Amino acid sequence: MTPRSDVDWDALRERARDAMSRAYAPYSGYPVGVAALVDDGRTITGCNVENASYGLGLCAECGLVAELHNTRGGRLPHFTCAGGRGEVLVPCGRCRQLLYEFGGPDLLLETPAGILPLSEMLTQAFGPDHIEGAVALSRQENWPHRPQDWQMALQLSNGAVALDDQGRVTGTILV
Ligand code: THU
Repeated sequence: MTPRSDVDWDALRERARDAMSRAYAPYSGYPVGVAALVDDGRTITGCNVENASYGLGLCAECGLVAELHNTRGGRLPHFTCAGGRGEVLVPCGRCRQLLYEFGGPDLLLETPAGILPLSEMLTQAFGPDHIEGAVALSRQENWPHRPQDWQMALQLSNGAVALDDQGRVTGTILV
C-alpha cells in the first residue's frame, strides 16, 4: 500500500473534479466525481450517472468500483469525492459500503473533517468476513448428516467433502 505521506491528495482531488465535469446529473443538478488510488499505483475515477427513473441513478462510487473490477481489480487505499464546485464531499452511506468491500476499514478518505479511515466513517461495518462465515454454514447444511449416507470424508485445506460409495461428492464444508 502507498504510504500515507507519499499520497498527493491535491492530485487525487483534481482527478475527482475532472470526473465530476463528466457527470450526468440533469435531475438533481448535483454532479459528483470520485477518485481513488489502487494498490498497484493506478488512479481510477467515477462520476454519477442519473436516470429518468430517478431511483435508478448511479452514484459516482458505483462507476468507480465497476472501473476497478473491469481493469484488473485491486485494493483501494486512498479515496476522495468532489462536488459541483470542486468541494470535498463525504460519500453517502451506501457508497461507504461499496468502498468497504474493496478498501476495508483502513481505506483513507479525504473528508471535510480531514483524512479519516473508513472505519470511522462506517463503524461496525458489515463485510466479506461476515459472508464467509455464512457461506460456510449454509454449505454445511448440505453435509449428509447420517453417517450411512457417506462412505468417506476427505479433509481438505479449505474444508471437507463427503463421498458416497461411488466416489461421488455428496456434501461439502468450506471454511
Ligand atoms: N451522489 C454520489 O454520486 N455519491 C455520493 O456519495 C453522494 C450522492 C450523487 C447521487 C445523485 O446523482 C446526486 O449525487 C444527488 O444525490
